[in-house]
Amino acid sequence: MSQMVDLIIFGGTGDLSTRKLLPALYQLHRDKLADRLHRIIATGRSKIDGETFHLEAQKNLQRFLPAADWDEAVWATFRERLCYVQLEAGQSKDYQTLTNLLDSSGAPGRLFYLATLPSLYGEICQQLQAAGAVNRESRVVLEKPLGHDLTSCQQINEQVAQVFDEEATFRIDHYLGKETVQNLLALRFGNALFHPMWNNTFISNVQITVAEDIGVAGRGSYYADTGALRDMVQNHLLQVLSLVAMEPPASLRAADIRDEKMKVLRCLEPITPANVKARTVRGRYAAGAVRGKAVKGFLEEEAFHDADNTETFVALEASINNWRWAGVPFYLRTGKRLTRRYSEIVIEYRRQPFSLFANDPQELTNKLVIHLQPEESISLHTVNKKPGLASKLRLKPVELHLTDESQEKHSSYDAYERLLLDALHGDQTLFMRRDEVETAWRWIDSIIEAWEENAIPVKSYNAGTMGPNAATALVAVDGFSWHE
Ligand code: BG6
Repeated sequence: MSQMVDLIIFGGTGDLSTRKLLPALYQLHRDKLADRLHRIIATGRSKIDGETFHLEAQKNLQRFLPAADWDEAVWATFRERLCYVQLEAGQSKDYQTLTNLLDSSGAPGRLFYLATLPSLYGEICQQLQAAGAVNRESRVVLEKPLGHDLTSCQQINEQVAQVFDEEATFRIDHYLGKETVQNLLALRFGNALFHPMWNNTFISNVQITVAEDIGVAGRGSYYADTGALRDMVQNHLLQVLSLVAMEPPASLRAADIRDEKMKVLRCLEPITPANVKARTVRGRYAAGAVRGKAVKGFLEEEAFHDADNTETFVALEASINNWRWAGVPFYLRTGKRLTRRYSEIVIEYRRQPFSLFANDPQELTNKLVIHLQPEESISLHTVNKKPGLASKLRLKPVELHLTDESQEKHSSYDAYERLLLDALHGDQTLFMRRDEVETAWRWIDSIIEAWEENAIPVKSYNAGTMGPNAATALVAVDGFSWHE
């Protein structure tokens, strides 16, 4: 698809479109990066006219874009590219209207972005095909969650595959669009320095934390049925884990990178009823205070039914059974209403075999800390001599910052700009292949089954903390502690 592309967003007035997609498209338009993008057609169920849609879109852009990025002149031209089509997922005639619009466009490429309920993906694809909207230059982007378990995920994939080939199917995980996540490839394979030590001989454990300070307000009914394991670990944390753990790919082409990520996922040791208690911790926030502000507990936020078995926090120990990683625990943790919003990957190295320093504090290990957000940076934790005459050879911790200062100019981009651009250009590298998503679900299902079989309880933690105490114990029994 080297020509112009019409982008059609299903769920065009929904939360994702409002908060993420339209602001990202506006930024691409402003920076003249979306040279392939012809028109943006937002579809939705609301019976509103184009003028009302534009007014709403303008209001939302002003709300969700950083204030400095709003520009009337940019909006005036962006608006011309943006239109609205009312569409009910089950109404064939609405797809006909959409197809007529697409046929009159002059842009041969069509990128259908599905940001609705995933249970509708199959039907939308079939309706698009029946209406003649899918041409040879068409692609589809699928937002998460792709199912609730392996079976439902396979069902969605199967239905979509009846209309779109795998090469035309782009499964989004927005974590792969984050600058520092992509930088993992540069760090690992662009430097001679780290690679020789990237294995179980030198690394003692890896920690991946995605902490959020927000609760689930507004998305409560989705979240009550989903929980942190399905919402975050199945996709974002496992994608990050596979990039950290993968072997060097044959090339940077999508197929080669995805093959290597896939091998990691296949090597994840299933969690079983016998080890689930030792390997996982589930938590749910109770009332507390986040950054000095009192907040309600999860169950008090909305009128939940049957949500007392929903976890808003999960910590677990994953094992990757291959030559590189055997014996190295990968600790994953994520949760809502934690102390603050931050995501990081910590590579902790083994200690040197013998210490010459009398005051060598045992807790000073070398760590490579990759901060994904809110700040994007990499730091290497080392020790130096404590300066001065008073101490002869005493040690002190020193952090070396490997951050490229010029990166700051990209900081107003969110992950979606990169992913939208790649989808427009047909580059699948940062999207999940069907076998990856399904293999990730297989592993997650093993945990859920083990939880159910052992009736693993959801432990309470106070909002504003880093989860239940059991999460500290999870790593402490192996002689480690979470990097805070
Ligand atoms: C989404 C989850 O995929 O990622 C949300 O459904 C979560 O529950 C969000 O809040 C976190 O994304 P980010 O980019 O803010 O870390």
